[in-house]
Amino acid sequence: MKTYLRLWVAVLFALPSGQVFAANPPSKAADPLRFDPGRNTSEKTLTFPDNKVVSYRAYETIYYVANVADSAYQYLNVYVPQSATTKTPIFLRNYVGGYFSAKAQAPSGTDASGRALREGYVVVIPGARGWNANVTKPDGTTAFTGKAPAGIVDLKAAVRYLRYNDKAMPGDAEKIITDGTSAGGALSSLLGATGNHPAYEPYLQALGAAKTRDDVFATVAYCPIIDLEHADMAYEWLYSGTNQNAGDAAVRSTGVRSLTSSAQIAVSGELAAQFPAYLSSLGLKMPSGTLLTADNYRDYLKLFLIKSAQQARNAGAEIPANTGVKFNPGFRGGPGEFVLDIDLDTYLSYLVAKTPLKSPPAFDKMGVVGPDATPENQLFGNATGKPANFTDFSWRKVSGNPSATMDKAIKDRVYLLNPMNFIGDAKATPSKHWFIRHGAADRDTGFPIPINLYTKLINEGADVNFALPWNRPHSGDYNLDDVFAWIDSVVNPTKK
Ligand code: DHB
Repeated sequence: MKTYLRLWVAVLFALPSGQVFAANPPSKAADPLRFDPGRNTSEKTLTFPDNKVVSYRAYETIYYVANVADSAYQYLNVYVPQSATTKTPIFLRNYVGGYFSAKAQAPSGTDASGRALREGYVVVIPGARGWNANVTKPDGTTAFTGKAPAGIVDLKAAVRYLRYNDKAMPGDAEKIITDGTSAGGALSSLLGATGNHPAYEPYLQALGAAKTRDDVFATVAYCPIIDLEHADMAYEWLYSGTNQNAGDAAVRSTGVRSLTSSAQIAVSGELAAQFPAYLSSLGLKMPSGTLLTADNYRDYLKLFLIKSAQQARNAGAEIPANTGVKFNPGFRGGPGEFVLDIDLDTYLSYLVAKTPLKSPPAFDKMGVVGPDATPENQLFGNATGKPANFTDFSWRKVSGNPSATMDKAIKDRVYLLNPMNFIGDAKATPSKHWFIRHGAADRDTGFPIPINLYTKLINEGADVNFALPWNRPHSGDYNLDDVFAWIDSVVNPTKK
């Protein structure tokens, strides 16, 4: 199989772009995108940590595109509990992390995939290419096939496969709920934001994806690492107040971010200064209707943190004073106690002491202060595997030309990776229901990134369940009772 596929890749690469269809084998064979219920299917059981056993039917290694570019990733697995019908909602979980490739896998008793099966949902786990996906061409050279936007294109192709085969397969493709964490949360939110948008069409056509819709019903996203081209400025705007120059002043204490050079501190300041203009370009409004600006944003952020601390306290959590959380005086520990306020600088210092921050720039780092390439630099790299800068800021720093702008081709790919660009775009069919979580102790991206996502979604009329769960680090699929109660409420709106 692999050799055969490699041959096709070789033909694809030999052709000028836009002519990939010419490379297809003559389609004498049956439609390669038709679901075959007799192929690669078996009865299985999953045993949960509480010893509960769930039986299900598996249909595995289903290739979801006609022109497979990487046979290791471009297939999906389907798991069908005994109670399921063609009307059962589909829980579509991706396992992408770090923007790496992810294989389709089997459901796990310790995450949302197993829980979904146990709740009676059809579970679909698609693989997707990431920045490290590569194939060896017949001439012995390596071609990287998973650079952006390959991952989201693959997942859209998987959704199309399910819809194309909706009548023949268990599960209802009009009720797909996507789930992912971090980079996988970003892809889940892209699935939710970009349904049917024509910008992805050339990529989908090149893969021979099914010619049908790719919008989804509901979206679960844990700590989505999105808005990559603005994530550096948001990060520094939030955290630059904690900067200390360890290199110059030999400061290494808790509650400060130890940077090693004045160059890093200068870059942090330059990036932080860019955030207010970006924020005002978004024109976001708080639920109260007030326009969000850099001046009122810290107070807006505090509302989410105060709510989070209050919920944790209600559930019995101890909240120490060094978090900056302030309770109403006189009622500490007794009835009538509530969270009055949070000192944001104290809270940010508390976070920095807990987990060291990324150094600036947090995402588009390559060549700016030191040579390091991040997963995001890899994501926007090219087919030879060379990583790339993807923001004007870093592009200018690296080129030494303060008015340089990055390659249009890279800019276009960056655009396709950002759900913020598609929310409110009339050419997209958005997910109607969203469940978004970003841990209140998660420093992998700055809080404004998920908060802006939430705010833009509600400004466009979406139904969004959003929170920054207290003390929660960078992680996903937690508090499964909450997310599955929410899924139940959106798939059965009349049950309440
Ligand atoms: C992930 C984490 C990151 O900090 C990042 O920049 C990209 C992806 C992840 O966990 O998937």
